[in-house]
Amino acid sequence: KRSIVIFASGSGSNVEKIAEYFADRSDVEISLILSNNPKAGVIERARRYHIPVLLFDRTGFYQTDQVTSLLQKQGVDLIVLAGFMWLMPVPLVQAFPNRIVNIHPALLPKFGGKGMYGHFVHEAVVGAGETESGITIHFVNEQYDEGQVIFQATCPVEPTDDAEAVARKVQVLEHRHYPRVVDEVLQRLDLQYEL
Ligand code: GAR
Repeated sequence: KRSIVIFASGSGSNVEKIAEYFADRSDVEISLILSNNPKAGVIERARRYHIPVLLFDRTGFYQTDQVTSLLQKQGVDLIVLAGFMWLMPVPLVQAFPNRIVNIHPALLPKFGGKGMYGHFVHEAVVGAGETESGITIHFVNEQYDEGQVIFQATCPVEPTDDAEAVARKVQVLEHRHYPRVVDEVLQRLDLQYEL
C-alpha cells in the first residue's frame, strides 16, 4: 500500500478532493495531515475523513527533525502540499528527493516566491493585467515555487475579473486536476521502483 501525507494550512478544499478521490482505493492511503495552523478548516475536514492530524509549531518544524524522522519512520511514499504556507526545511526536502509535490495557484515561474500565496497571487495577476492564469503542480526543492514543473492548466482572465473571480476559476482547475496528478506521480514512483 502506498502512503501519502498532506501538509495544509488553510481551508483544506484540496485535501478534501484528494481524500474523496482515493476513498475507494485499497492501494493508496492518506495516512496523516500535517498542519501548522490549529484553526485551519482542514482539521475539521480531516476528522470527517477519519484522517489523523499532526499539529506542529515553527520551532518544532525548523529547529528539530521531529517531522522528518516521523515521516521517514512511517515509510511515507509521497508528501503532498495543499495550501501549505511555510517553506519546507532543507533536511526534509533532502530526505524526500522528488517525493514532495506542491500546487501553486498561478502559472509559475510567474507570480511565485515568498509571500505569493492564496489571495495575494490572484491580486497580483489582476494587477499585472494578465489575460490568463492557472495552476502549477511541481516538485518541491529548497526554494519557494522553484522545483520541476509536473503539470500546468490555464484559465482565461477577463478584463472584468477581480481577484475573487480569478480565485474561483483557479480553484476549479485545482480540484479537477490535483488528485489525478498526485495519482500519476504515485504510479511513476512504482515505475522507478521497478527499474
Ligand atoms: C490553493 O489555492 C493552493 O493553490 C494555495 O492555497 C490554496 C489552498 O486552498 N497554495 C499556495 O498559495 C501555496 N503557495 P485549500 O486550503 O482550500 O485547499
